[in-house]
Amino acid sequence: MKVLGLRLIKKTVLLDGDEPFYHLYYGNEAGEEGSLVTTFPMPWRNAGSRGSGQVRILSLGVPEGSLSFWKRRLESFGLNTGVLERLGAKRVTFKHPCGIEYEFVETHGDTKGSWTGGGIAADAAIRGIRSVGVSTRELPQFTSFLVDGLGFVDDGMDGEDARFLIGHGQKAHVLEVLHEADRPQGSWNLSRGTVHHIAFDLPNATAQKTLKLHLEGLGYTDVSEVKDRNYFNSVYVRTPSGALFEAAVTQEKGWLKDETRETLGRELKFPLWLEDRKDEMAAKLEPIRE
Ligand SMILES: [Fe+2]
Repeated sequence: MKVLGLRLIKKTVLLDGDEPFYHLYYGNEAGEEGSLVTTFPMPWRNAGSRGSGQVRILSLGVPEGSLSFWKRRLESFGLNTGVLERLGAKRVTFKHPCGIEYEFVETHGDTKGSWTGGGIAADAAIRGIRSVGVSTRELPQFTSFLVDGLGFVDDGMDGEDARFLIGHGQKAHVLEVLHEADRPQGSWNLSRGTVHHIAFDLPNATAQKTLKLHLEGLGYTDVSEVKDRNYFNSVYVRTPSGALFEAAVTQEKGWLKDETRETLGRELKFPLWLEDRKDEMAAKLEPIRE
């Protein structure tokens, strides 16, 4: 993240199953919803297959006029870049060294905070997630899920690609769907070089419960129970595209429950229920070079 200039907001672990692994959150200065990119580094696992039924592209929103800066910066770090236009938006594209596709897209009037330094000034710093591109083999079934299930508005197509909108204000509200009927399905497990899921922010537990019941009522019964993720509570749903979506509600205090705003991300934090295994787990995790 030295290249992108995001702030490491939280260093913690996730324990789904029996082996702990890091869960690292990067975002803007305050780690606002809509700015977060998270990673589960697990170098001991096999590389996953990228394919359909996954989030394929992560688009980062940057201020108007900054695309050329980012192209130069990426190239100065030895990354190959491309320029293309899709769904009416110009993009500078590159791949993360792990293989995941990223893009920069200029956004208009995004007043979210940013994180500056390391050669990145406020007039270029990333404002957060602009959109994601989900690859699907089947468009109509996924469209129906997005519109009837989640409340997205169908915003039209460009070739094989479709755009959907949800919400308003400063959070990311664009979802791009890449219709790739012949693309083999990608892996769903936690594996190197793939996006496991995307998360949407919900305002409160009532909205989360209402959404879960609504989806189940439509027949989308693959909605998980509410999982306590220490800083937020989440439900997960396997969508008809194959991609996994998460609906998260931030807990009281959020990131600030165990660190101050100034010291976010400095220390490795464990949820209370893992406190007694902290030393044992920390010993299994390799040190992070920042
Ligand atoms: Fe998540």
